[in-house]
Amino acid sequence: MATSRLLQAPGATITGWGVGLPDNIVTNADLAARLDTSDEWIVERSGIRERRIGGTSGSLAVEAGRAALKDAGVDPASVDLLLLATSTPDQQMPATASFVQDELGLSGGACDVNAACSGFVYALVAGYGMAALGAQRILVIGSDVMSRITDQEDRGTAVLFGDGAGAVVLEATDGAGQLLGWDLGSDGSTRHILYADHRAHTKMDGKEVFRRAVRVMVTSSVRALEAAGVAPADVKLVVPHQANVRIIEAACKRLEIPTERAALVLEHTGNTSAGSIPLALADAADAGRLDDGDIVLVVGFGAGMSWASAVLRWAR
Ligand code: COA
Repeated sequence: MATSRLLQAPGATITGWGVGLPDNIVTNADLAARLDTSDEWIVERSGIRERRIGGTSGSLAVEAGRAALKDAGVDPASVDLLLLATSTPDQQMPATASFVQDELGLSGGACDVNAACSGFVYALVAGYGMAALGAQRILVIGSDVMSRITDQEDRGTAVLFGDGAGAVVLEATDGAGQLLGWDLGSDGSTRHILYADHRAHTKMDGKEVFRRAVRVMVTSSVRALEAAGVAPADVKLVVPHQANVRIIEAACKRLEIPTERAALVLEHTGNTSAGSIPLALADAADAGRLDDGDIVLVVGFGAGMSWASAVLRWAR
């Protein structure tokens, strides 16, 4: 984790990004028409106005991965490794990454990473680690179809989750690369507060998840920032897991980072689990919110509970 070690190893930089979202938009009004809920309640408690529903984790990952490779100008046949973060794999086995590798014509290894909503940041940090071991081009994707494991009759969860994917291409650099610090964590003793059994729907203690989410977002961010030797005030953009705008606001407040510096897409996507952070990163980058040299904090949390943070110095 120490910065000095990162500086000694070969690094990597994000050179392209892309997203995959289903066409089908489900608004709060659509949900209120069949559930005992309202647009007002959902917006006030979560910040979500609509979500996309449809596709498979594999198909959305292919869409996002293809767009990211095109954006980076990278030949799929030159990719050394695909890391696909998902907790809604298309099959029990093989890994959904096998399907994505075949569809995109990637060479090299391919595997899934499951750390629930923290999965993309776990895969991203692992991707930088693989660059330190000599991989030249790594495709990192987060993709989830949460609608498949959500009880659409349960107003407590159906209003929160959506489907989507985001991807980045990491390319090895001569110098130190972008990753300045990271923190990965897990507290498996709290796995009962958010889980989905095989062939069953997601069960969640919303209040408990909320409380712990704010706490781990803050502690993990602080650890990653300390490892990077960066003060919270120097963070130009926070890319948080898109679960609930109130969780993001509470964490930003405790970190003393203005909420205006957070990338937010959840209003239009809901919680897309492993898809959420790369979707928000791509949105911010496409909107011109990132310049070379900017400090970016990505921070995820989710079932497990798991959490993951990374501090990057943006460069393309
Ligand atoms: N529409 C209307 N009312 C709803 C509702 C809905 N969709 N869902 C729950 N309610 C009701 C509850 O039944 C409860 O009613 P009661 O007081 O009569 O029992 C009331 O609203 C308040 O529920 P509560 O759980 O106290 O609301 P909250 O302010 O904690 O917000 C969540 C609920 C789920 C939005 C919030 O707890 C949350 O976002 N938690 C984190 C979830 C999360 O991020 N999960 C993924 C992590 S990766």
